[in-house]
Amino acid sequence: MTCTVYLLNGPNLNLLGKRQTEIYGNTTLADIEASCSTLGTELSLSVRSLQSNCEGQLVTWIQEARDYGAAIVINPGAYSHTSIAILDALKAFEGPVIEVHISNVHARESFRHDSFVSLRADGIIVGCGVQGYDLAMRRVAKILADGQS
Ligand code: DQA
Repeated sequence: MTCTVYLLNGPNLNLLGKRQTEIYGNTTLADIEASCSTLGTELSLSVRSLQSNCEGQLVTWIQEARDYGAAIVINPGAYSHTSIAILDALKAFEGPVIEVHISNVHARESFRHDSFVSLRADGIIVGCGVQGYDLAMRRVAKILADGQS
């Protein structure tokens, strides 16, 4: 059976390619989702791509992943730095979780240096641009394959 990866993006990431392009680049979220889907096929993974500006919606999708997802790749956006609710939801998920940040949050404002989500993440990819999503997909594939052997 094909494993499903939940690719979750948080607030304002729907504006990728239009918002602060000097920080986040010109690639759109649709481009990222298409690229992860193609890579997923190569890695024998199916990808469920979801984006919301609402914290509760992200929590609901993380809970859904408990039943239907093998792994989560998440860029929680600004909620990384504020959301105990997202952390708690991720703690209730048993599969691998990889946190992605397009920008190098550690080279930015100090309020971006801490992430609640990092307390649960099995891996964190920071400052690799949108390539971070591909790296996260490959990491998830490796963890899932190792777990099956
Ligand atoms: C971000 C970094 C966050 O601090 C910011 O709020 C975002 C995007 C990133 O991908 O670099 O919205 O998660």
